[in-house]
Amino acid sequence: MADTSRRAFLGLFAAGTAGLGLVGCSLVGQGGTGARGADSEAVADSPPARGSRTLVTYFSHPYTDESVNSAEELDNSRTEVGGKVYGNVEYAATLIQRRTGGDLFRIETADPLPESHQETLDVTESERRENARPELKKLVENIDDYDAVFVGYPIWWYDLPMPMYSFLEQQDLKGKKVILFSVHGGNELAETVETITDGLTESTVVQNAFTISRDDMDSVESELNTWLNTLGYKA
Ligand SMILES: Cc1cc2nc3c(=O)[nH]c(=O)nc-3n(C[C@H](O)[C@H](O)[C@H](O)COP(=O)(O)O)c2cc1C
Repeated sequence: MADTSRRAFLGLFAAGTAGLGLVGCSLVGQGGTGARGADSEAVADSPPARGSRTLVTYFSHPYTDESVNSAEELDNSRTEVGGKVYGNVEYAATLIQRRTGGDLFRIETADPLPESHQETLDVTESERRENARPELKKLVENIDDYDAVFVGYPIWWYDLPMPMYSFLEQQDLKGKKVILFSVHGGNELAETVETITDGLTESTVVQNAFTISRDDMDSVESELNTWLNTLGYKA
């Protein structure tokens, strides 16, 4: 993680970070941790196969769907378009779904996360400390219908949100092409691409992951289009 981006983020979340271990967690299951998928690099930018079936999964926690008029740090986690308020990752997922013609699946915890900013920090910090695997509402039942699975998440505590560990360990993604996208508050992708690649040994994790700062959401559509072009999803 670049020192400058860690500092930028610490400036915003300093109050909640005292004593937090910053060592990355690891993903288990799906063949366990270990060697990176042999063909991860080789096929990283290959275009989607003709007729390939695409699923766009994402986790997003914009705290509340009230209109965007509250504290700045809350606004930063939300994007308002055409009167509708989205989480930042949710909005990116929606754009990818439209562009690829895939299906959309929201990853949600069984117990809803708090709506207030401070409570969200408190709950997620202790989940991270405990290396928790929060229970999910559901998994994708018809995963066999898909060849390519986009996986979207915000950076939380310099890492994947813990519900993403639950998802990636419990959802069978063997044999799938897994394409990552993320929104951050200063830490870009942190170590998440490495963590996911090391954990999903039987999937092909595309190394060209998308990342954008929550401060640049105004340009997310054009940035995503450029990235999707490089992956072979032509407009
Ligand atoms: C609990 C929590 C922890 C966060 N930790 C980080 C972090 O360590 N590094 C970072 O760059 N951004 C961090 N952020 C900022 C989010 O990545 C950013 O606000 C993102 O846009 C959230 O996406 P969402 O609205 O779709 O959930 C954190 C946000 C929350 C709520």
